Amino acid sequence: MKYSKTLKELFAGITLNAEDLLFLETFQIKYLPDRVPQKEFSVLLRANPIIHRYLISKYPPIEIFINTILKENVPINNKNIIEEYCQELLWEIADLIAYNKYPEVYDAKVEFTWELNEIIPGKSLKGKIVIDAGAGTGKLAFRVAKYARTIYAVEPASSFRSFIRDKVKKNKVKNLYTIDGFLDSIPLPDNSADVLMTSNAIGWNLEDELIEIERVLKPGAIAIHLIRNSDPNTENPFHDILISPAWKYVCTKFQDTGRLKLKYSKTIKKGIK
Ligand SMILES: C[S@@+](CC[C@H](N)C(=O)[O-])C[C@H]1O[C@@H](n2cnc3c(N)ncnc32)[C@H](O)[C@@H]1O
Repeated sequence: MKYSKTLKELFAGITLNAEDLLFLETFQIKYLPDRVPQKEFSVLLRANPIIHRYLISKYPPIEIFINTILKENVPINNKNIIEEYCQELLWEIADLIAYNKYPEVYDAKVEFTWELNEIIPGKSLKGKIVIDAGAGTGKLAFRVAKYARTIYAVEPASSFRSFIRDKVKKNKVKNLYTIDGFLDSIPLPDNSADVLMTSNAIGWNLEDELIEIERVLKPGAIAIHLIRNSDPNTENPFHDILISPAWKYVCTKFQDTGRLKLKYSKTIKKGIK
């Protein structure tokens, strides 16, 4: 298991049930083949035919993956082992479940340790249109809202968009709007924003995301990607592509409590590679 230990510590106290998978959104189901332990997933699917049908009806291409793992993994009959495997599977993808089921827990437990002056000087945001893409609960978006003219929080998970909208209302924030979208498909016009930021959100489909970011930003605009690793020894897997001559991002490292905090930034120069 790759993530379950960290996620059990991070989200200690929450409960996960197989039925939580019925709240997965299409884009999250698409990520499952890269995330799930296959034996445990096959056990959960056999024990829960409704979930099997739901996943395929919501995202039909996953049927090939599901059929393959069901063929490769023999059925298990012991009730205790089935329950144990289901819990292992659920904890391995607990972040996806927490997004949908416990957005307020996600917001409280996942730290955001960036100071605004590490990201961008507040005064340089005056009058600017800013995008926070893959916004989650909007930690970055809310941080810059009092400096910028308008902030668009682009986020595919509907629970997070609702969380942001509720917080906007509660705090009477007048310039922050949520948009349903993806980093490789941002529903805003060409050359429409002055700053685009991401925080631990880039890299689902990196090359297409970088192209989309350049499309939506004005010439002279700034793109910033913040990455904070939970493992202090893990470098950003996208580092080489971001700093390559094709994309020309500059990487700055910051001190954090035992973690590696990286900022990748660049000024957009249209038509010049
Ligand atoms: C690790 S969270 C980071 C959230 C937030 N930026 C923060 O720093 O707390 C990753 C976020 O990216 C969103 N996401 C997943 N796939 C995405 C995609 N293809 N494009 C944009 N955002 C995506 C998730 O729903 C989630 O909100």
